[in-house]
Amino acid sequence: MTRPTAEPDIYLVGLGICGIDQITAETERVLRHAREVLFVDTGVATRRYLESLCPRVTSLFDESYADDGHRLGAYHHMAARTIDAALDHAPVAFAMQGHPIVGACAPALIRDAAGLLGLSVRVLPGISALDCVFAELLLDPCLHGLQMYEATDLLLRRRPLQADVPALIWQVGSLETRLHTQRRSRPERFTRFQIHLRRFYPAAHPVTAVFATPHPLMQSTIRRFALDEIGSHAHDLHAGFTLYVPPLHARPIEDAELCRLVDSAEHLRRITL
Ligand SMILES: C[S@@+](CC[C@H](N)C(=O)[O-])C[C@H]1O[C@@H](n2cnc3c(N)ncnc32)[C@H](O)[C@@H]1O
Repeated sequence: MTRPTAEPDIYLVGLGICGIDQITAETERVLRHAREVLFVDTGVATRRYLESLCPRVTSLFDESYADDGHRLGAYHHMAARTIDAALDHAPVAFAMQGHPIVGACAPALIRDAAGLLGLSVRVLPGISALDCVFAELLLDPCLHGLQMYEATDLLLRRRPLQADVPALIWQVGSLETRLHTQRRSRPERFTRFQIHLRRFYPAAHPVTAVFATPHPLMQSTIRRFALDEIGSHAHDLHAGFTLYVPPLHARPIEDAELCRLVDSAEHLRRITL
């Protein structure tokens, strides 16, 4: 059970995507207050910035990841280090790229372990890659909806894609493995992926791979190509890319009666008090 205290033992915070520029004022306030910040981020200025806020800063990246090692093992290590720190000198903060709940396994493990140990946890929102992709592509998810899947999960479950709804595919550069590597991909890595998407889109369907800039002085990397050309971009598509698959067609309005009513003042009066 989580203790009901005003101050939690553990803060889970996101650092945003673009260096330290996207850290929220709320997160900065919490980091000033933490007795240790344990972080996973490879940005050049991140460590120095965190040290300006908190006297004890621990980078978990190098000690957690090993080439060809299991990513799950790395997340367990991050969680164990954070829980140990919280038991010894709370409050502590675990800080990672983006939003701490979006595509984030270590925070989930921390929450589970904290619950068992009676440690309290508070999650603060961060700017996610999702926000950056919206801005890069000028994509408004309220217009035609949005479907999002993790790339390997999409294949494992053979999830159907809805061709009239924009799709974002996370971790497309880490396809078909739960192990960690910094090695580049071969074209063959994308064969299953391409076959699966071809069930819903034509070979020439244009897709866009986006890597939002991790540094304010650098440009984002945007690659546009036809679906059947994805293999020829394998070398480039590292683990930081998200793939955007635009809708193939728009879904027509079916409820003509409601379509007429949405502009009617009389209807509005009928459905309001
Ligand atoms: C494990 S998830 C972490 C997501 C992160 N917690 C967030 O809120 O954005 C890693 C995936 O996020 C996406 N991602 C991370 N950084 C990105 C960036 N700079 N540009 C585009 N997508 C990014 C990619 O799909 C990548 O494979």
